[in-house]
Amino acid sequence: MKTIIAPSILAADFSQLANEIHKVEAAGADWIHCDIMDGHFVDNISFGPAIVGFVRKQTKLPLDVHLMIEHPDHYVPRFIEAGANSITVHVESEAKHDVAKTLQQIRDAGCRAGLTLNPATPFAAVEPLLGQIDLLLVMTVHPGFGGQSFRADQMEKVKRAKSLSDKIDIEVDGGINAETARLSIQNGANVLVAGSSIFHALDYAKAIRDLRGE
Ligand code: DX5
Ligand code: ZN
Repeated sequence: MKTIIAPSILAADFSQLANEIHKVEAAGADWIHCDIMDGHFVDNISFGPAIVGFVRKQTKLPLDVHLMIEHPDHYVPRFIEAGANSITVHVESEAKHDVAKTLQQIRDAGCRAGLTLNPATPFAAVEPLLGQIDLLLVMTVHPGFGGQSFRADQMEKVKRAKSLSDKIDIEVDGGINAETARLSIQNGANVLVAGSSIFHALDYAKAIRDLRGE
């Protein structure tokens, strides 16, 4: 199965966002990862549905929207309206929603439903919900900022997810570079999110090939 590369535009140059999106698409990106932060669930603020709608106009690639926000159920309709193809929500109680209900809400709207967990959250929190999702995102850093170091201890979760389901996408996010990409793929991940290692590289196409291990 071909590894899916999802550049996170959090690390892009926002003064030329359209150009950055065209460049990663031409360089071989498969999805565009949009990191949404509200300053409550995580200690940072990024961007909202209006920017996702703008990104939608720049590319036909699937938009993979990662909601690091409280009350994601309240905002899901706006991100779907903006053109999201998959929406991933957090399982932690700090996200303040009924997780199973939100996943159903996402699917009912014809969108792919993703679930994610922070490094400190045990795998048992997502396990009962694996049958209700299209994608499991294993956070390999504590969410909030790009450019942090990969946590190899999270590979246990990737392995466990892979052993339990061959139907869902298994995505990793945080500190992904050529080396940690290889480790993630070996353990069973098939979707790699990468911010810094793509957008801070001189040659985006080479950075993407390196992540795929080509
Ligand atoms: C972390 C975000 C990530 C982040 C990845 O809160 O969810 O998507 O932008 O950035 P890098 O690849 O720089 O770790
Ligand atoms: Zn993310």
